[in-house]
Amino acid sequence: MKVKVPLELTRTAKSGFRSLLSLLLIDRNATILDIGAGGLGGEQTTDHLVEFFDGRIIGFQPAKVVCDKLQNKYQGRVEAVHGFYGECRANVPFDLIVFDIRPHAQIYERLLDVALADGLTPGGYAICTSLSHLRAAYEREPPMFPPEERRQDEEFGQRFFGADDVTADVARAKFEDHPHYEFVTIIDKWMGEVPLTWVVLRRKLASKESGKSPLRLPPDLTRTRAIGLRAIFPMLPHDERSTILRLGGSGDFGDIEADLAGVSGADRMLDGLGEHALSEPFDVVILAPVGAAVPSVWKNWVFKKSLPGLLAGPRVKQGGHLVAGIVYNVPEAYDGAFAYFPGDQRADQADFMREFFGAETVNAASLSTRFSQDRDYEFLGLVDRWLDLNSRGLGWVILRRRSRPAPTLTERARVAWQSWFGGRRLGQPQ
Ligand SMILES: C[S@@+](CC[C@H](N)C(=O)[O-])C[C@H]1O[C@@H](n2cnc3c(N)ncnc32)[C@H](O)[C@@H]1O
Repeated sequence: MKVKVPLELTRTAKSGFRSLLSLLLIDRNATILDIGAGGLGGEQTTDHLVEFFDGRIIGFQPAKVVCDKLQNKYQGRVEAVHGFYGECRANVPFDLIVFDIRPHAQIYERLLDVALADGLTPGGYAICTSLSHLRAAYEREPPMFPPEERRQDEEFGQRFFGADDVTADVARAKFEDHPHYEFVTIIDKWMGEVPLTWVVLRRKLASKESGKSPLRLPPDLTRTRAIGLRAIFPMLPHDERSTILRLGGSGDFGDIEADLAGVSGADRMLDGLGEHALSEPFDVVILAPVGAAVPSVWKNWVFKKSLPGLLAGPRVKQGGHLVAGIVYNVPEAYDGAFAYFPGDQRADQADFMREFFGAETVNAASLSTRFSQDRDYEFLGLVDRWLDLNSRGLGWVILRRRSRPAPTLTERARVAWQSWFGGRRLGQPQ
């Protein structure tokens, strides 16, 4: 079976950038500009671009020493241009430009225009790093950026977006009437975390071509908002022999099925509520939360009872994957303007979270710790349920069932000892 999940998925599953690359309609042979390439060793953008694409990748980097490292690390796969993009250009047509640079003002107020003149093709994408939570960036310890930059960020946010924080609504409104760019989507830079986000724009097509969806999504977007799963599913190892089971997710919205429409392997996914409920084990099991119209007692049942039950049982093969719906932030899911769940079951859910996960709010780091000692499952990642909307505290946790090595001689001896002597030490009273 072809394994598509990179081993370091613990690190990369959190990467909104990887999910984006799997969602955007970009040809593998596309020409790509990576602005700021290698600035953080390539971990944020350059590594992933090299992995996802076979075409030309041109990296702009103003620091000579980083530029030289780029050449070495990627062995010529990345063409390093020494200089500030804007002062230098690519002068070739390209399909994607990634801006992972600060200050953000230069991206939005200058370089997006440079990209148009430089060669961004109609229908081509610009992915722009942006602040989704200014206060969180500066009021954490230590602040993410030098405190003296706060003023500059605030002024730019207000001037350009009319807001400190770039949300989907803010970005959509800003580009609503833009002559050249349209807003496509927004995604956390690290899934489920603030303060940085990627804003994705697309150069408008000639009018006769417009109207084509800019994402690999079925056209009925109202039914297909669970796109975090769509981003994750292709990364899980599966082929035509794999068995895939979905528990839940066919409820009032049918959004899980619709969301995975057209994704390789999803057409063979079995509905766990039917005749397959008792067959086992499976290569991939998706434990989906049920839809909003179902009484909340059932919703909590799905979250509370099914996950521990599945983890304890044999439904997932060794080396197989479990993708389970999770409330990773109880206050976000139950309180506030965008709450997904009615408040009456909040206490119940909070109790479960504390009992099972150790906290009402978890993130990739705490889940990783939670499962580090787990005998049966390892934690691979956490992804938002809706990538382009307020996350509402809901996500998918991705776990892999550990493969057990064959027992060693000593292990076999221990098991035999246990069965012969019931685990009693010799000399102990019977
Ligand atoms: C956050 S780092 C980029 C990290 C990079 N994407 C990676 O994966 O390693 C920002 C980099 O952008 C560079 N930079 C800032 N303005 C730039 C510009 N106009 N053109 C090219 N690079 C720029 C900085 O020198 C720094 O190296």
